[in-house]
Amino acid sequence: MKGNLIIKNASELVTCSGFTAKKGKEMSELGIIAEGAVVIEQGRISRVGPTTKVLAELKSSGKDLSPFATIDASGKAVLPGFVDSHTHLVFGGYRAEEFAWRLKGDSYMDILQRGGGILSTVLATRAASREEMVATGLRRLDSMLSFGVTTVEGKSGYGLDRATEVRQLEVMADLNRLHPLDVVPTFMGAHAVLSEYKGREDDYIDFLLKEVLPEVASRRLAEFCDIFCEKNVFSVEQSRRLLTNAVESGLKSKLHADEIVQLGGAELAAEIGAVSADHLLHASDEGLRAMAEAGVVATLLPATAFSLREPYARGRQMIDGGGAVALATDFNPGSCFSESVPLVAALAALYMNLSPEEIVTALTLNAAAAVDRSDTIGSLDPGKQGDAVILEHPSYRFIPYHIGVSSVEKVIKKGILVFDKLSQGERRC
Ligand code: NIG
Ligand code: FE
Repeated sequence: MKGNLIIKNASELVTCSGFTAKKGKEMSELGIIAEGAVVIEQGRISRVGPTTKVLAELKSSGKDLSPFATIDASGKAVLPGFVDSHTHLVFGGYRAEEFAWRLKGDSYMDILQRGGGILSTVLATRAASREEMVATGLRRLDSMLSFGVTTVEGKSGYGLDRATEVRQLEVMADLNRLHPLDVVPTFMGAHAVLSEYKGREDDYIDFLLKEVLPEVASRRLAEFCDIFCEKNVFSVEQSRRLLTNAVESGLKSKLHADEIVQLGGAELAAEIGAVSADHLLHASDEGLRAMAEAGVVATLLPATAFSLREPYARGRQMIDGGGAVALATDFNPGSCFSESVPLVAALAALYMNLSPEEIVTALTLNAAAAVDRSDTIGSLDPGKQGDAVILEHPSYRFIPYHIGVSSVEKVIKKGILVFDKLSQGERRC
């Protein structure tokens, strides 16, 4: 579905204008137009500018305006739709008991080492049907939409066998078709090591390369390949082998890097030219420098650090060093059971010392770059997809300031109003 829509009189039209990731100081440039308007035709942005100018241009163009809906955004800020560029949104079961164990002192990795954590979600996901996962997935996407997310990345990785990995990716294709949100699928078969492969991780990588990746690639079930590059999970060498093979098969690469210990994941991301490296809580100075030089987007997940009671990634230093930073939720049943964009924004402000401007860039254009879509989404530029959010407040500054609470009033996807807080949040298509 594609709509025709004019949004006018926005107190701030925050364009985030750009077609590639913004680095360093550029992250503070939001391209704001006061009293701005955006015109969306057939789902695509056609004009952006001050309302008086845009309306006058439309009038003099002689265009038939009868197919256009109009939203008056007086007193409200309008931004590009948010991109949640790192989630694990398709899974069976929950892990509320694990959260309680962690409160009592168990560590995330200890729980995984004794067969819990990700491995317990693997059992629940293997037992879940495609239909069940589509049903829960749709509810999760509705919730994400209410936070202003218009594109979401989702990973497999709770199957660790061919059939279930493929089923998770098929569920994402179903969700993409059934829900207004765009879903970017990532193959993450290398998410954990089953007991039968403990000490034989290379054999498991062989299995993925021979038995799973060919089907994923030939059926175009995933755009990205990701791996948990971590001590006691997959080594830097194993990660290099999987990701370079995946790239040869036509997928793009990203990795969970230096989340729990410093292993050299950031360096590897720079070496292989990954699109993004994610987490980076313990990334080395050299690794971060190399990533900035190589143009790898650093995707930071502060709600995971919060949930695991780990130190936050050094976002301020990454930006000061000329890097491109994106922010995402990491929504998953274990390390971060939260799809809350406002929580992520507040934590990035308070604990990573990112400015409100940098946070907005990190949730829009740079997050679009983290899923290699900055040419089509992530900013309000003519030619891009008509995805936008309208806040209930006059400024983008409310996003981190309204702590943990969504300031999003309306969400527009391809020119169609798909969420409106004022009509109790029902989905419109
Ligand atoms: O990004 N670290 C690995 N993967 C996820 C957590 C997945 C889970 O706990 O189920 C993460 O933190
Ligand atoms: Fe993750």
